[in-house]
Amino acid sequence: MRKIVIAIDGYSACGKSSTAKEVAAILGYRYIDSGAMYRAVTLYFLEHHISLTNPKEIIKALEQIHITFKVNPKNGTDTFLNGLSVEKEIRKMRVSEMVSQVSTIKEVRVAMVEQQRRMGKERGIVMDGRDIGTVVFPAAELKLFMVADMQVRAYRRQKELLDRDQMVDLDDVIENIRQRDQIDTTRAESPLRQAEDAIVIDTTHIAFDEQVDEVVRLALSKIVSASRA
Ligand code: DC
Repeated sequence: MRKIVIAIDGYSACGKSSTAKEVAAILGYRYIDSGAMYRAVTLYFLEHHISLTNPKEIIKALEQIHITFKVNPKNGTDTFLNGLSVEKEIRKMRVSEMVSQVSTIKEVRVAMVEQQRRMGKERGIVMDGRDIGTVVFPAAELKLFMVADMQVRAYRRQKELLDRDQMVDLDDVIENIRQRDQIDTTRAESPLRQAEDAIVIDTTHIAFDEQVDEVVRLALSKIVSASRA
């Protein structure tokens, strides 16, 4: 069977990562969380006090950043920044509050997109993010665009944070999601938008398992047609 590329885009906290992770596990594909890459860059910038308005400093810093993923049987994949696991650190609010800003920087996007394309070279990949179907893999066989109501997204994100021992007020979660939606959709460099050939999945009222089943069904049908071609 031919291996395909599955691109999942959408707003923050719509269930992209959890769906992508599960679908990848079922298909035996690699899962890449592109948002984790922008988060790792943000963490590096925070820790090294990189000025977001100094392109020279940014380019130099990007040369020092090496991001990798390792499969973790418990919760999918762990993100590593220069050999150290940063999985927990990149999910904290201080990173969430700055990541959308960092993601607007052209030099950052160019560096990340190049790495993401390299990761997808062998195909058999599920990647989630904001520009995967539009910029990173415009020829992906399956493109999905996930949406959900704000209240549902905020509850889910708050629960995710609680599971990681972080107590965050629901209003603060909503505010952060709103700000990120705003920055992600209005930035000049590859803003979040639905690819013309993407299939919209609204996760507001469907159970997680149903969501996964639907994506697997769509993927299998694309795999069959790609193998016939
Ligand atoms: O998926 P996430 O919420 O972890 O992503 C964090 C931020 O990274 C998000 O606010 C926007 C940015 N991002 C991006 O600009 N492009 C991507 N492909 C993935 C994430």
